[in-house]
Amino acid sequence: MLTIAEQKIRPVRQDDIAEISLLEEASFDDPYPSYFLSELARDNPDTFLVLTSNNEIVAYGVVDHWEDHDHLISIAVRPDSRRKGLGEALLVELEKRLSKERPLKLEVRKSNLAAIQLYSKRGFTKTGAAEGYYGDGEDAVIMEKRLVEETLLGS
Ligand SMILES: CC(C)(COP(=O)(O)OP(=O)(O)OC[C@H]1O[C@@H](n2cnc3c(N)ncnc32)[C@H](O)[C@@H]1OP(=O)(O)O)[C@@H](O)C(=O)NCCC(=O)NCCS
Repeated sequence: MLTIAEQKIRPVRQDDIAEISLLEEASFDDPYPSYFLSELARDNPDTFLVLTSNNEIVAYGVVDHWEDHDHLISIAVRPDSRRKGLGEALLVELEKRLSKERPLKLEVRKSNLAAIQLYSKRGFTKTGAAEGYYGDGEDAVIMEKRLVEETLLGS
C-alpha cells in the first residue's frame, strides 16, 4: 500500500509544547526548556509555526518581535525528516508573515553548516560574530536578511 504523508504548516497551540520539546531535545545539545517554548508560543501566535506530517509535528520555527527587528529564535526539523525541504518551507512561511519594514536577524553556531547553508540559500548574509555566545563557549555567526514583498512579476 502506498501512503502519502499529509503535510501542513499551522500556528502553534499550547498543547503542542510537549511534542515540540521532544523535537527540541532531539535537535540541540542545549535545548530550550518547555516553559520558554510555551512563553514564545503565547507571545508569538502568528510567528510560531509547526509543520505536521500525518498530524505529527516534524518541524517547528519561531520568530519573536524585538524592538527594532524580528528575530528568528529557533528552527528545527526532526532528524528523520531532514533534507526534504521542510526547514526551508517553514522558513519561507515564517518570512511571509513578517513585516517587510523590519530586518530579520538570527544567531547560529559557527559549526552549524547545515543551518548556515539554509540561511544563505534564503538570502541571509553574515553581518557579524559574537564570541563565546553559547554556553559551551562556541562563537555565534550573526546573520540578517532584508525582506522584500514577493511580487507577481513574470506571471
Ligand atoms: C538546519 C535544519 C533546520 C535544516 O532543515 P532541513 O529540513 O533538513 O533543510 P532543507 O531540506 O529544507 O534544506 C534547505 C537547504 O538548506 C541547506 N542544508 C540543509 N541541510 C544541510 C546539510 N546537512 N548540509 C548542507 N546544506 C544543508 C541546503 O542549502 C538546502 O538546500 P538544497 O536541498 O537545495 O541543497 C535542520 O538541519 C535541523 O533541524 N538542524 C538541527 C537544529 C538546528 O541546528 N537548527 C538551526 C538553529 S540556528
